[in-house]
Amino acid sequence: MSEVRFDDRVVIVTGAGNGLGKSHALAFAKRGAKVVVNDLGGSAHGEGASTTAAQTVVNEIKAMGGEAVANYDSVTDGDKIVQCALDNFGKIDVVVNNAGILRDVSFHKMTDADWDLVYNVHVKGAYKVTHAAWPHMRDKQYGRVIFTASAAGIYGNFGQANYSMAKLALHGFSQTLALEGKKYNITSNTIAPIAGSRLTATIMPPQILEQLKPEFVSPLVLKLASEGHTETSGLYEVGAGWIGKLRWNRTLGHGFPISAELTPEQINEKWSVITDFSKSSHPGSGQEALMQIMQNLQNK
Ligand code: NAI
Repeated sequence: MSEVRFDDRVVIVTGAGNGLGKSHALAFAKRGAKVVVNDLGGSAHGEGASTTAAQTVVNEIKAMGGEAVANYDSVTDGDKIVQCALDNFGKIDVVVNNAGILRDVSFHKMTDADWDLVYNVHVKGAYKVTHAAWPHMRDKQYGRVIFTASAAGIYGNFGQANYSMAKLALHGFSQTLALEGKKYNITSNTIAPIAGSRLTATIMPPQILEQLKPEFVSPLVLKLASEGHTETSGLYEVGAGWIGKLRWNRTLGHGFPISAELTPEQINEKWSVITDFSKSSHPGSGQEALMQIMQNLQNK
């Protein structure tokens, strides 16, 4: 088995001052990467800022003989983070969009600020960093982009309407980057991790959190970010040493004759067929998904 290495690779990890991002940054550095350790250093709710979080991780990397630079900008100023990578290391090979905050509250109590802050950090932030890095990766015909989604986005979670919105948005974003990046050797993949961190500290008992080490998640990030990994557009759930891949599962559906008016009553009548997953398909692209729908135009 050949060793996964990142010698001469420049990696940006956002939100790398704590939790998962810190674990990713250390893992990349251990395998030879030059790492931009970005962290705004605010609270889990997105308040305040400090240089301590990023600097502490950089000190740790340097102490083990690795190469890293600290960056304290918010991901919403993604161009500054990318500039930091260029100024210090001259290029960008890997972007790990990891920075995140929570503003959990049930939907009826959610404020515009709760919604906007979560959107800004997770979605706009990932956009700003990736968008600034994109032309450099295209020029070099090489790039690996990783997004960080969440089970809350895939399945929903009480009190996390804003967070669920943001987290699944990233997978949609990633799937299109995968298409646009293909001919430039840029891949884009998404993880939905579970790990003990300050974000999960309030929702799980400490003895479980202790076992859910971020170090169980980082190896998948490294695999997805490695040169040898050319699969793109994936979504993976990962944690506790377990890794699985997700894909769409669509029922075979039912095509109604298009020559007659379609009524809700007809849909009612065929509901058990429309929703029957005993036989299903797994469309892997927009074209594949559309094909079956368009075929029904012959159903007169
Ligand atoms: P964490 O709170 O330990 O780390 C997140 C880091 O992002 C913090 O150091 C914070 O300062 C930084 N950050 C926040 N806003 C920032 C901004 N605007 N610019 C730059 N840095 C910023 O949390 P954790 O758990 O390590 O989360 C990492 C990512 O994983 C997040 O995107 C989170 O949504 C996601 N995630 C985590 C799960 C878990 O089980 N821990 C579950 C699902 C998703």
